[in-house]
Amino acid sequence: MRQLTAAGLVESRPGVGTFVRAARPTTPADYGWQTAALGSPLSRAVGLSATQQVAAPDALQLHSGYPARDLLPERLVRAALVRAARTESAVTRAPAAGLPELQAWFASEVAGPVPPSPRDALVIAGSQSGLTSIFRALVGPGQPMVIESPTYWGAVLAARQSGVDLVPVPSGPDGPNPADVERAFATTGARAFYAQPTFANPTGAQWSAETGRAVLDVVRAHGAFLVEDDWAHDLGIDADPQPLVGQDDDGHVIYLRSLTKTVSPSLRVAAVIARGPARDRILADRAAETMYVSGLLQAAALDVVTQPGWRTHLRTMRQQLGARRDLLLRAVRESAPDLHVEHVPAGGLNLWARLPDGTDVDAFVRACQARGLVIAAGTEWFPAEPTGPFVRLNYSGESPERFPEAGRILGDALRH
Ligand SMILES: Cc1ncc(COP(=O)(O)O)c(C=O)c1O
Repeated sequence: MRQLTAAGLVESRPGVGTFVRAARPTTPADYGWQTAALGSPLSRAVGLSATQQVAAPDALQLHSGYPARDLLPERLVRAALVRAARTESAVTRAPAAGLPELQAWFASEVAGPVPPSPRDALVIAGSQSGLTSIFRALVGPGQPMVIESPTYWGAVLAARQSGVDLVPVPSGPDGPNPADVERAFATTGARAFYAQPTFANPTGAQWSAETGRAVLDVVRAHGAFLVEDDWAHDLGIDADPQPLVGQDDDGHVIYLRSLTKTVSPSLRVAAVIARGPARDRILADRAAETMYVSGLLQAAALDVVTQPGWRTHLRTMRQQLGARRDLLLRAVRESAPDLHVEHVPAGGLNLWARLPDGTDVDAFVRACQARGLVIAAGTEWFPAEPTGPFVRLNYSGESPERFPEAGRILGDALRH
């Protein structure tokens, strides 16, 4: 039945049954009028990211950014959903800033001399939506924002959606050079820097403590915000996160933390921590966009992270991610030695690999796809022109038994 459905020959109507699909009307639909109604797109980004494409069920998939089911605490999540269904939150409206207990949990996760208050933690439906709100509320259309390069494609997209002008600074395995950040602020007058100091997507880079301190000093000196996207807080392998928000006591750091990759992508619960008027502006933007986040999902997320099994889950996940990273690295080094992983990530979900100079990345990605392997071209992770031919290989989604096969396909595609 699955095959027939995929082939478009039968269709299921929920609660009614499964039927042979009726013949399609022979006259093609004419949507030409929409071209005139819509005009040219305002932003270049029309369509989905390569990481969001739906691959054939039997394809080897190293493109997606979310961990496989067996890495996630499925038992805790299912039990939490059942318990959440019995709470008030299942049938009432949640406060715009989030369930107070979940706000308190997110705030309590930040260690430092002046911890944020629960009020400073705003619950949002996935950190992607937080990026758009932060850029819109704190930077605004036509205004410059400093950003690492390469960086998360979703941040580049959110900035474009908000009309923000990006000012890229190069970032390596230890983070950006603070002098570059200083220059970018001084020459553009930017008031914000979006960065991932911990296990950056895509490179896995972790800033050194000195870089973090120096960048924070630059940000303070320019009266600016550091938007710290701590997306991989719970995805450390050989190192632990040291979020810069812990050193902030006067609202310079706007901090994002997400549970979608460690609890469940289906719960889509994350938080922004912000202090002062910045907090109120972000909250106003979120409320205008979505009013509030489903209380049922918030209650379930809170239940999971406060169970005794949560810490055990994080430890197990760390080991599994380490084993997966090493297996994929070995497969690449053995079977595709020309694909160069310059930096072994100490955390996160990805290998960032460089192809030999002159390789056409898109043609390479297509050659892999034709051989049954889906990967993402690195192009999307650059806010300006790519500095080389890169691909991103995610080791968290596919079954690790298939990594050797993936390595062979990569090697084969490189040779042809
Ligand atoms: C760096 C970074 N930030 C934010 C996100 C968005 O995550 P979510 O909306 O699932 O919280 C991702 C997802 O891959 C990411 O890699």
